Amino acid sequence: MAGTFITFEGCEGVGKTTQAKLLKQYLDDTLQDSIFTREPGGTKIAEEIRNMILDGNSNISPIVEAYLFAAARADHILNLVLPALEQNKIVICDRYIDSSLAYQGVGRGLGFETVLKINEFACSCCMPDCTIFINMDPRNSWRKQKGKVITGDRMEDETDHFHIMVYNAFKEISQKYSDRFINIDPTEDKELTSRSIIEKLISRGLIK
Ligand code: TYD
Repeated sequence: MAGTFITFEGCEGVGKTTQAKLLKQYLDDTLQDSIFTREPGGTKIAEEIRNMILDGNSNISPIVEAYLFAAARADHILNLVLPALEQNKIVICDRYIDSSLAYQGVGRGLGFETVLKINEFACSCCMPDCTIFINMDPRNSWRKQKGKVITGDRMEDETDHFHIMVYNAFKEISQKYSDRFINIDPTEDKELTSRSIIEKLISRGLIK
C-alpha cells in the first residue's frame, strides 16, 4: 500500500485532536500531501452513524454499538482512507480500531477478541503504519483541569470507572502492539508535545 496511515488514540479531553491537527499543520507547512479525518465520521454515512451512537438519548446495547462503530469505520476506510493512501497521501486519523478495542472490547466488556474479529472485516485489513497514543489519565485530562465535565455525549458522560478501564486498555494495547505504537506523555505546552511527535515520526521514516 502506498501512502502512510497515522492514527491518534487516547482518552477524552487529552489533546488528541489538537495534536492530530498540529501534525496536519506541520505537513501542510512542509508541503507533504496529507488529509486529516476522524472516527466515527469522515464520510456522510459515517457522520450519520456518529450522531446515532453519540446521542446521549439513545439506548444502544454494547454489541450493536460495536457493529455501528465498525460500520462507520468500513464506510470511512473504503471511501476516504484507502483512496487517499492509494494517491500516496499521508492520512491522519483521530481514533481508529484501537478505540473500539479499548471502549467496546474492554469498557463495554465485549472482549478484545470479539471486537478484533468484527473489525478485521470492517477495516479491509488496513492497519495503521503508526499509532500515536496520548498517554494521559482521564481523571487528570486537560478538559477536566479546565472544569468541563458533562457534555451530553453518550461516551464522554460515562463514569470515571469506565474511562479508567478504557485508559488501562489503551496502555495494554500499546504494549501488545509496541512496534506500531508511539507513546506520548503530553506536556502542558502543546507545541512541545507536537514537536516530540513529529521528531518520532521523522525518526521512523514515516514523514519528512
Ligand atoms: P469524539 O467527540 O470524537 O471524542 P474525542 O474528541 O475524545 O475523540 O467522540 C468519539 C467517542 O466515541 C469517544 O468517546 C470515543 C468513542 N469511540 C468508541 O467508543 N469506539 C470507537 O471505535 C471509536 C472510533 C470511538
